[in-house]
Amino acid sequence: MSMLVITSAEEVQKWAMAQRAQGLRIGLVPTMGYLHAGHLSLIAEAGKHADRVVVSIFVNPVQFGPNEDFEKYPRNEARDLELCEKAGAAVVFLPQVSAMYAPDASVFVTEERLGNGLCGAKRPGHFRGVCTVVAKLFNIALPQVAVFGQKDYQQAAVIRRMVRDLNFPLEVVVAPIVREADGLAMSSRNVYLVGDERSRALGLSRALQTAAQTIAAGPCAAGAVRGQMREVLEKHALKIDYVEIVDAETLEPVSEARQGHVALIAVYCGRTRLIDNRVL
Ligand code: PAF
Repeated sequence: MSMLVITSAEEVQKWAMAQRAQGLRIGLVPTMGYLHAGHLSLIAEAGKHADRVVVSIFVNPVQFGPNEDFEKYPRNEARDLELCEKAGAAVVFLPQVSAMYAPDASVFVTEERLGNGLCGAKRPGHFRGVCTVVAKLFNIALPQVAVFGQKDYQQAAVIRRMVRDLNFPLEVVVAPIVREADGLAMSSRNVYLVGDERSRALGLSRALQTAAQTIAAGPCAAGAVRGQMREVLEKHALKIDYVEIVDAETLEPVSEARQGHVALIAVYCGRTRLIDNRVL
């Protein structure tokens, strides 16, 4: 069966309804393209839960702030389509911005708790954009299962909450972070790293490793663990956006860090904003 590339939301909906009428399960992997091994692992995971996998490729303008990298976000449609086909996707949904947002669009989805801190505090409006586009993609692809990466830990938590609170009839699966051999979490934005930035970016996974080692010895004041992480990040000349240790469910900062909590980091490596996290 050859892969379909569809640019119209209505056409994907029609396709999805026909699949469901035949009793087939649909898995959705929402992406912004410039695919890497992390995305391919999400497609593989979706394949385990569904008969047909839809990959959406859409750089969603609504989740970018005015001074962020929407315009220069890396894009390579031809390569993405090749990778999706090899990975076994049934459909790639590849809409234009105009096919996703009417010029006078006035309905948006906001999550009002889990998305307030961390990236939500640093990128105002980001999760409103994410929730809105993901809700639209759910209504377009009609999946029974949707797969997201743990690399965006807060995003996954916000989407799970949206699915629960708005009664979307689907299961959210969160797949583990895929890392380069040296520990750098895979991200489409890694392509921005130039010169020594690539090696300095290892500070994120090393800081998380330090936190995990500390916690392995027993619970510890979160402030002390954050201090250790900051030290590692600063040694790698990374500009800290946030370093936090939170409860895995509520995303509230904890005062005593222990196993099961989540350490999250956002930094600027040069001009590139990188995030990473680890369940301790
Ligand atoms: O994680 C991403 O790539 C995006 O935030 C998503 C989920 C595709 C929504 O645009």
